[in-house]
Amino acid sequence: MDSILVRGGGPLNGQIPIAGAKNACLALMPATLLSEEPLTLTNAPRLSDIKTMTELLRSLGSEVAMMQDGKTLAMSCHSEINTRAEYDIVRKMRASNLVLGPLLAREGVAEVSLPGGCAIGARPMDIHTDGLTLMGADIELRDGYLHAKAQGGRLKGAVIDFPFASVGATENIMMAATLAKGTTVINNAAREPEIVDLADCLRKMGAQIDGDGTSTITIQGVDRLGGATHPVVIDRIELGTYMLAPAFCGGEIECLGGRMDLLTSFCVKLDEAGIDVTETDKGLKVKRRTDEIKAINITTEPFPGFPTDLQAQMMAVLCTANGTSVLEEKIFENRFMHAPELVRMGAKIDVAGGTATVTGVNKLKGAPVMATDLRASISLILAGLGAEGETKVSRVYHLDRGYEKVVCKLQAVGAQIERISE
Ligand code: UD1
Repeated sequence: MDSILVRGGGPLNGQIPIAGAKNACLALMPATLLSEEPLTLTNAPRLSDIKTMTELLRSLGSEVAMMQDGKTLAMSCHSEINTRAEYDIVRKMRASNLVLGPLLAREGVAEVSLPGGCAIGARPMDIHTDGLTLMGADIELRDGYLHAKAQGGRLKGAVIDFPFASVGATENIMMAATLAKGTTVINNAAREPEIVDLADCLRKMGAQIDGDGTSTITIQGVDRLGGATHPVVIDRIELGTYMLAPAFCGGEIECLGGRMDLLTSFCVKLDEAGIDVTETDKGLKVKRRTDEIKAINITTEPFPGFPTDLQAQMMAVLCTANGTSVLEEKIFENRFMHAPELVRMGAKIDVAGGTATVTGVNKLKGAPVMATDLRASISLILAGLGAEGETKVSRVYHLDRGYEKVVCKLQAVGAQIERISE
């Protein structure tokens, strides 16, 4: 199994190109099931999660090919499709559940394995299934699979009030509603940029969608959707992660393609911590205002709040801040597994329920640590870059799910980092 070796120390300087968003691409790919015409996604990231979605879509009868440039996904779903998403693929990645809405919209039936829990929490699917039920689907759980059938063979529009602004449920219902009979309104919809990106792509395919990016999305169902070519929005979580590197290590990084509007709350918090972000014609430049980072408090929230997917990386940086920081995790119940690993590097962190209190220390010290999930993995790499000595991060297969060419990108700005196979 591969590990990553990081030697902490020097400042980081240079440019880092930001890839297309994993989470946007994983929602855009199942949209191919909604049409018999080709869907082409440009600026797709090269990640193992994208391979898993490719495998799933192929198992359903879609053609999916990564073009030679390594960034263009050509998909087509013109022949008969299989409506059963098997556990063996779905269990690898929760976002596999995003085929449920499109399958049900196209075929009127779907059998999709429940993805199961994951390290960061239970992650049920009730918001997805309650919404589809209101749209006229009969859904029952048998043998670990959701068996869904649209009454009369076609979903119908409905007014759906989400109890929580779930990203995945908003995407699933939005896709399902594009081909439903009548109008669907989603109240308390998620507002993440990845949802706006999906709505933009669906509109290119002929869908009638209004209000994406706000809490109320209205979808007027149509009889058929066509093909489209769509560029995947940049990955704001990869962007935020690399913006934190100079905060920890010093130096100045320009994140190519970076946009502040994708990370407003995060940028406000960086400013509070003493980190300057400036817009350039190529993206965003980031550097520390002084040698010291100030302690700050953060609470994770749905967009436009502070993203849960940047909480672990921010915690790593705050380990050496001046003062005590309080981090409240409001999205997932078990998302502090990086804390004990950071403690092994000398951090002072107390976790009580959904709150972590971080008391800044002068320096972290390199240590062997273990990655437990995707964002935890990168937080340990950031910590290693800012620590004294050598840090070995094991179980890095999590990283391959969400960070394209992470070792190359960090080496290019002067980091001492390498991947080793044992
Ligand atoms: C997406 C992102 C993930 C990010 C998360 C929150 C993708 C592929 N993944 O995950 O990186 O961390 O948004 O920004 O886009 N919930 C329920 N019932 C449901 C659905 C969700 O209780 O039916 C709960 C979840 O357990 C969790 C919270 O709602 O506690 C947020 O989940 P949700 O917004 O759905 O996240 P995902 O779409 O799974």
